[in-house]
This record gives sequence, structure tokens and C-alpha cells, in this order.
Amino acid sequence: MSVMPITSEQYARLRDMIRERFGIYYDDTKQFLLQSRLQTRLIKCRVADFDEYYRYLTISPEREAEWDELASVLSNNETYFFRERAQLDVLASEVVDEAVKNHRRLRIWSAACSTGEEPYTIAMLLLAGGRIAPSEIDIRAGDISPRALEKARTGFYRELSFRATPPEVMAKNFRPFESGYFISDEIKKMVEFSRVNLLDQKAVAAYGPADAIFCRNVLIYFDKPTQKRVVENFAKALRPNGYLFLGHAESIIRLTDLYEPIVTPKAIYYRLRGNDGAR
Ligand SMILES: C[S@@+](CC[C@H](N)C(=O)[O-])C[C@H]1O[C@@H](n2cnc3c(N)ncnc32)[C@H](O)[C@@H]1O
Repeated sequence: MSVMPITSEQYARLRDMIRERFGIYYDDTKQFLLQSRLQTRLIKCRVADFDEYYRYLTISPEREAEWDELASVLSNNETYFFRERAQLDVLASEVVDEAVKNHRRLRIWSAACSTGEEPYTIAMLLLAGGRIAPSEIDIRAGDISPRALEKARTGFYRELSFRATPPEVMAKNFRPFESGYFISDEIKKMVEFSRVNLLDQKAVAAYGPADAIFCRNVLIYFDKPTQKRVVENFAKALRPNGYLFLGHAESIIRLTDLYEPIVTPKAIYYRLRGNDGAR
């Protein structure tokens, strides 16, 4: 498919608007990627060029619906069950220990859950651990992409999602169906999905008080000021000393001192310092 021409002004204007809305930042090296992703929308919206598409996004009556479409088109939804296992083990040990010790319900938020593999993994681990009753576990999951969330709620997965799933976990929690697997109802009902934009401070705070937030493999798509803004938003949704888990390639060490980094041989994660996040 040939790509419609875009001027540097058109590119910068659309790119900046997308960053402001979703945080996702396309630098100059990603112009071709953004251009080709947007092009599919130009065709669907039947607009002639990138100027007309800009107007469509800013003043047409369909603009909000189009932003919803963009949220699905622009996000990278790569994920799988039991991804970055060492952090999940910290959750199942340290974070659970603290909730049990303090006799409180455990609230976990998978903040950019994509198609649901991450929060469902958390549910499977906590249930299998047996240290905390299902009625005491509150797992919430959010994402900006309506399409990813729809898939998460359906709970149907294909082979690629299982690349790190132990066979016994698979046998216990999934039912084969045609070319894939449905997750069990028992696990499905442990997770509550909702749409969220991590830039929305009020919406983020409403997920609190969480014992732990998983926001893995998302910040890499944001520029530094947006990363800072998002992790500062998280401080409003975490309990004092609550845990923040980021992806392997993501570090906030030089970005904010709200969190104390914890480095173990297998995992890096963060704890909210002091009472800044107290709710
Ligand atoms: C690569 S996936 C990560 C999924 C999962 N956390 C994992 O590590 O496997 C990144 C997700 O971040 C979501 N995302 C990007 N920007 C977002 C925003 N501003 N608010 C909420 N979710 C966002 C995307 O829709 C996508 O589903």
C-alpha cells in the first residue's frame, strides 16, 4: 500500500495532539509508522488528506468516536500470560504478606492491561497461592484501547498468549475451544475491567487505595515528562508504601523521588515513599 504524503507540519500537529491525548509519543524516527497507522483511519473516515483528518479530529461531530478508534489503532497491545514472572512472585509473596498481616483486602490494579493476560495472570497466581480468600482479592484492570478491553472481557486467547504459561496452569484455568482457549469463569469473575487514560489524574486516583499497581511496558511509549506525570498520578492511587511494578526496560530512578527503587537479583520494582500516597 502506498502511503499518503504528509508534510512535516501536518505530522508535528497530529503527533503532538496524540501525545497530549494519550501520552503516546511518536518521535521523528517513527513518522512512517504513525503515518501508515493514521492512513487506515483517513480511508475509513473518507477524508482526502491529513489536513482534513486534523479537522475531523478537532471539529467534526464524530470526533470523540474517532479518538476512541485511534486509541485502539495507535496502541501496541503485545502481552502474554506470566510475562516477567519474577515481579509476579514479589506480588504473591511480599505484597500478599502485608495484606494478610494487616487483615485487609488486597487491591491490585493492572493499569494498562491490554487484552487482559496480565490481570488474569495475577488472579491465577493469587488463587493458586491460597493465602488470601478470593473474596478478599480485588483486581482491577484498565486500558485506553476499547478493542483490547473487549478482547479481555471475552477471555478468549490463542497460542501466542501462552508462551510462558506453565502447562498445569493452562490445564487448570483454560478450556480449549476451536483454535484457542477460553479462560475459566472462576478467574474471569475475579477481574473488573474498565476504560482508563493514565493521563487522567482523577480517573487514576479513583483506582485507589491500591496495594500494588502494575504498569508494565507502557511508559516506553511516553516521553519523559509524560512518564513523570503518570507515575506521579499513581502516587495518588497507591497506599502509603504501596508497590509499583514497571516493565524491564522502564526506569523512573532519575524521574522522581516519590518512589524507592528495590533491586533484587531477579526483579526491580518500586515502593511509594512515606505517606505521600495515603488515602
Ligand atoms: C504493550 S501493552 C502492555 C500490556 C501489559 N501491561 C504487559 O506488560 O504485558 C501497552 C498497553 O498500554 C496501553 N496504553 C497506552 N497508552 C495508554 C494510556 N494513556 N492510558 C491507558 N493505557 C494506555 C495500550 O493500549 C496497550 O494496551
